[in-house]
Amino acid sequence: MPVLSVVVERCTDRGTRAGWVVLLRGDEVGVGRVRAAEAGASDLVVWRTFAGQVCVMEARCPHLWSHLGAEGVVDGDELLCTAHFWRFDTSGAGSKVNVSGRRDRKGDIAVYECRERNGMIEARLANDG
Ligand code: FES
Repeated sequence: MPVLSVVVERCTDRGTRAGWVVLLRGDEVGVGRVRAAEAGASDLVVWRTFAGQVCVMEARCPHLWSHLGAEGVVDGDELLCTAHFWRFDTSGAGSKVNVSGRRDRKGDIAVYECRERNGMIEARLANDG
């Protein structure tokens, strides 16, 4: 699976207030797709739920650091890490479903506010300054 790394625009005032960063074209992240993206030093994944909601989150699974651009699969409204089957909803809440169907809480992952504007997916990255 090709990994796309595109930063088209970067807000020049990061560090003083959170800025919107263009990550990918909206049509590059279809329903049920996951794409890797980079913004500065941040490794991110951009994915779209089966209902069409876009989500931008940290790329590394908080369990054992697998890259969700390679190991992540969309399952409905969650991103599943296929390494050990932790899953994350669009708020970043982590869980794992055991063989009997019980859902146990696991570690959470950082999620960034995002939007689609003019056909592009943008994320507001955390203030790092
Ligand atoms: S590395 Fe993702 S579930 Fe283990």
